[in-house]
Amino acid sequence: MRRRDKEGPVDDFTDYQKQGGVAVITFRNPPVNALGIDLRKGVAEYIDKAAADGDVTALVLTGDGRCFCGGADIREFGSPAIEPMIRDVIDRIESSSKPVVAAVHGVAFGGGFELALGCHFRVAAPSAQFALPEVKLGLIPGAGGTQRLPRLIGAEKALGIVLTGDPVGAEDALAMGIVDEVAGGDLVAAAVAFAEARVADASPLKRARDLEAPKPPDGFFDGQRQKIERRARGLIAPWYCIDSVENAVKLPFDEAMNKERQYFVECRESDQSKAQRHIFFAERQAAKIPGIAKEPAPRPIETAAVIGCGTMGGGLAMNFANAGIPVTVVETDPQALEKGLAVIAKTYADSVSKGRLTDADRETRMGLIEGTTDYADIAGADIVIEAVFEEMDVKKEVFAVLDRTCKPGAILATNTSTLDIDDIAAATGRPEQVIGTHFFSPAHIMRLMENVRGRKTAPETIATVMTLAKTIGKVGVLVGNADGFVGNRMYHCYTRQANFLLEEGALPQQVDRALFDFGFAMGPFAVGDVAGLDVGWAIRQRRAATRDPNERYSPIADRICELGRFGQKTGAGWYRYEEGSRAPVPDPAIEDIIVGVSGELGIERRDITDDEIRERCLYALVNEGAKILEQGLAIRSGDIDVIWVYGYGFPIHRGGPMFHADRVGVKVVHEALSRLYDIHGELLKPSTLLEEMARDGLAFEDLHKEKTK
Ligand code: NAI
Repeated sequence: MRRRDKEGPVDDFTDYQKQGGVAVITFRNPPVNALGIDLRKGVAEYIDKAAADGDVTALVLTGDGRCFCGGADIREFGSPAIEPMIRDVIDRIESSSKPVVAAVHGVAFGGGFELALGCHFRVAAPSAQFALPEVKLGLIPGAGGTQRLPRLIGAEKALGIVLTGDPVGAEDALAMGIVDEVAGGDLVAAAVAFAEARVADASPLKRARDLEAPKPPDGFFDGQRQKIERRARGLIAPWYCIDSVENAVKLPFDEAMNKERQYFVECRESDQSKAQRHIFFAERQAAKIPGIAKEPAPRPIETAAVIGCGTMGGGLAMNFANAGIPVTVVETDPQALEKGLAVIAKTYADSVSKGRLTDADRETRMGLIEGTTDYADIAGADIVIEAVFEEMDVKKEVFAVLDRTCKPGAILATNTSTLDIDDIAAATGRPEQVIGTHFFSPAHIMRLMENVRGRKTAPETIATVMTLAKTIGKVGVLVGNADGFVGNRMYHCYTRQANFLLEEGALPQQVDRALFDFGFAMGPFAVGDVAGLDVGWAIRQRRAATRDPNERYSPIADRICELGRFGQKTGAGWYRYEEGSRAPVPDPAIEDIIVGVSGELGIERRDITDDEIRERCLYALVNEGAKILEQGLAIRSGDIDVIWVYGYGFPIHRGGPMFHADRVGVKVVHEALSRLYDIHGELLKPSTLLEEMARDGLAFEDLHKEKTK
């Protein structure tokens, strides 16, 4: 139980011990010592206590448990600020006339790092990691990080840390001048000894605020702005990170601090930071499966196998090897195997030449990947992921073999993007161990793992696969088994509207630009050209027999495929591509096809606005998401958002389609869809859930709250 003394600080959040003349103040707010109000109060009061105690000559600040401090408690963001704020605590530390030493182990992130920067010295354990990850949540550091760090280590290095949000390890931090000493063994003892030595030699206190930030070369900041132009399109925070660090070399400390605060508050209140924070929490929430909370325990995955070493199989094998898990890939014949393994080897070699991977790591990872054409070699694997051709008969055949070959208890997963998991599971005698693990291309890079639960999939299988996602650095989201699952089913509705818009008067480049302007990295037609148009064509051909003849269907994509234009790989698709270039060039031949189809269908082409494009494509997406929730195929609207951000390049600063709908207003979305339904018919008919939500004034967020109650 947390207890607050009537007079003293919050003892359960902070601890105060004297070791000789050194006061050791320990943060105690598990799991990461977040700087919530109770901890802040405790630290501030103990700093005062140490100041007032004539026997105390120096202070050490340290964290209990696994780390120094993970930063601000972002759950407090929505509530009114309560003093002392983090920056007040830091001021108090920095102004201390007695030396204050931060003893950092584990992470010192965000406000935790800023607090350490307010100390006069820093001693780090070899495990220490320093980062200012605010930019990843659409924020800038708001407690002096953009001011003290440049003054301590120079603007160039500081901006690197502020702009990437990535952690710096203890040795690098020492080399940069962030820490004064790296100490193995008992960290607090080392920090106390360090503090005593500073008292003994009467070292001047290093107050970052009083240092002058070394000036970077002329043009440095503008160069950085140019560098992030593409990556930071539509975002506020990265630009403010640069402005604020620039202020550190241009303005007096207090003035620059006030500006940092102003930028921080603007970011914090922005929809985009709210969106990024939503995704941060939704990602963590997605790991929690009602009914499979803690039990059953996931099975350990120590060895893996992948069937098929094509586009996806190769990437899947790399995921395991990157996580240190030995993996065997199975191909049909030695030539296909050799080809697949060569692609993996080349991908790793490219990473080495780009400086992203050391040669030693490349060797280790390649050493973890074996190839075979004999299923007997994978009999002992803990999990097998099948990534062969997208054909039910082929998949069933493979699963029948896996069932015969693999050890009891092995998980048999499929990377199918559309096929029925229950049908595949029926080819085995152990459907409870069969599950969909839908990865995205390129599989070693894209972070989403859409895990599909079949009717008979056991909780243990689900728990194992969700845990595996974390182990291999993916974001796992559990969905139900329906055609296209969640992501592709919604994607289909989105691209379908994009195609109709072509028939009605738009061109691919206009549709793509409107959605690019919304924040997507690429519009749907450019994406199609990258992914390969033949994939969707094959799926459409397969579905042709069962398609409702009364449902609107656009033949344009088929016409393009009939010309052998499959996208970038054939040098032409929705666009044409110059030899050796990936830049899409609008093609008059495509315009002819589109205009021709409009004529055949008797559609009079009209001017289409960018707003209509966004409305049609995005609201179709939201509407399908609502149907998916209605049918219980996704657990929460946040799960859908995570799927779209990590699997489909939905701009993270818009928070995913469902969060976006909440921002626009469910009522507004519903009204727009009702209007579009009147004009365009059934495919844009508002879903029942959306209708009810609009009537009751609910947002998707509210549904989620109700569900978690
Ligand atoms: P691919 O055609 O590049 O690779 C398939 C590989 O499987 C080929 O190398 C083939 O030789 C091998 N293969 C076929 N039958 C086999 C068998 N019986 N035993 C062993 N190996 C066999 O196909 P891709 O693109 O890698 O797709 C694989 C699966 O992943 C499909 O189910 C697809 O729908 C799914 N998927 C594909 C995505 C993509 O963007 N390419 C994205 C997400 C899922």
